[in-house]
Amino acid sequence: MRSKLPQVGTTIFTVMSKMAHDEGAINLSQGYPGFGADPVLLDLVAHYTKSGYNQYAPMSGIPQFRQRMAEKILRCYGAEVNPDEEVTIVSGATEAIFSAITAVVHPGDEVVVLEPAYDSYEPAIQLAGGITIHVPLDSKDFSVDWERVKHAITYKTKLIVINTPHNPSGYVWAEQDMKQLSDLVRDRNIYVVSDEVYEHITFDQRPHLSLVGHPELRKKTFVCGSFGKTFHVTGWKIGYCIAPPELTKEFRKVHQFVTFSTVTPLQFALCDYLEKPERYESIPSFYEKKRDLFLQGLQKTDLILEPTQGSFFQTARYGHLSKIEDKELAERMTKELKVACIPVSAFYHDHQDDKIIRFCFAKEDQELEEALKRLDRLNELF
Ligand SMILES: Cc1ncc(COP(=O)(O)O)c(C=O)c1O
Repeated sequence: MRSKLPQVGTTIFTVMSKMAHDEGAINLSQGYPGFGADPVLLDLVAHYTKSGYNQYAPMSGIPQFRQRMAEKILRCYGAEVNPDEEVTIVSGATEAIFSAITAVVHPGDEVVVLEPAYDSYEPAIQLAGGITIHVPLDSKDFSVDWERVKHAITYKTKLIVINTPHNPSGYVWAEQDMKQLSDLVRDRNIYVVSDEVYEHITFDQRPHLSLVGHPELRKKTFVCGSFGKTFHVTGWKIGYCIAPPELTKEFRKVHQFVTFSTVTPLQFALCDYLEKPERYESIPSFYEKKRDLFLQGLQKTDLILEPTQGSFFQTARYGHLSKIEDKELAERMTKELKVACIPVSAFYHDHQDDKIIRFCFAKEDQELEEALKRLDRLNELF
């Protein structure tokens, strides 16, 4: 059979997680929390499953959950959204991103993707018949190189995919980035997919700037979010998409034939759980402590580190120590030091290797401390 995605194989996350498992290594590779969710949330799910909330939910999400999301967006980003026409509950941010891309991209359309990038964007663009235009982020600090983005725009550009807080770098967009993007798409027929799955994980008092909070950008944007990241339940695959009514209309046409609707008891449970804003407002300080613990430990090594601004990832540069490929380093670290990480080259379509590795610090403190102890021997790998 002629593959529609010939270049797609097993993702690096699967490869590294399997290697970590086989080697008995601490898995700081794949981005999922190593601790459980709040028992209150788990009890709510049990309650709703046992009370008979187990049939299909409405296609766009249960009304009270969409209403709760509208309230949350007003509180967090000062934006009023219509819960019936602008909020859709979906089966994870990956589904939101896929449905948004499928809704707007026609064969031959160009889509700008800033690299390094999360791996689900490009296959979705390709399946829609679109052409991915890769634009590298600044290699020093992963900020957006707006001159390069401007040069990548043509009359064929239909969409830009952005991600803040950014995986893998942890870069968080500043006001300046919002201004540059709004100047760029103004008066152009260009839409935006904004992947904001780490919206509640930013550090050092840095706010997350959601595109829904930007009066101009929100008119052209699909904001894609994930409860999995916020509430330590990545296995639930439940998220949302916020977009203006005309975009939501097209989005839902795709969503209803990708999954139709999203797990009913989870929607009821999360709706109740979101009643208390402190449940998501406490997340930054929870993760900031982990970021600091892990960073302080890593600072004892010879790796070059910038404190991550957001997300639960910390990147580290080692090019001044060795010319070893990042993939090989990640493999040897897993096998010899029993700590797994992700080589950042995996986030580039051409596997550009800037000698950077990514660690996930969404783990129990004890596990992070043990990983740091093992990384004391890091120089043996160079
Ligand atoms: C940047 C980014 N976008 C999207 C996702 C997927 O989110 P979900 O699990 O809700 O589909 C991830 C998960 O790792 C991610 O890191």
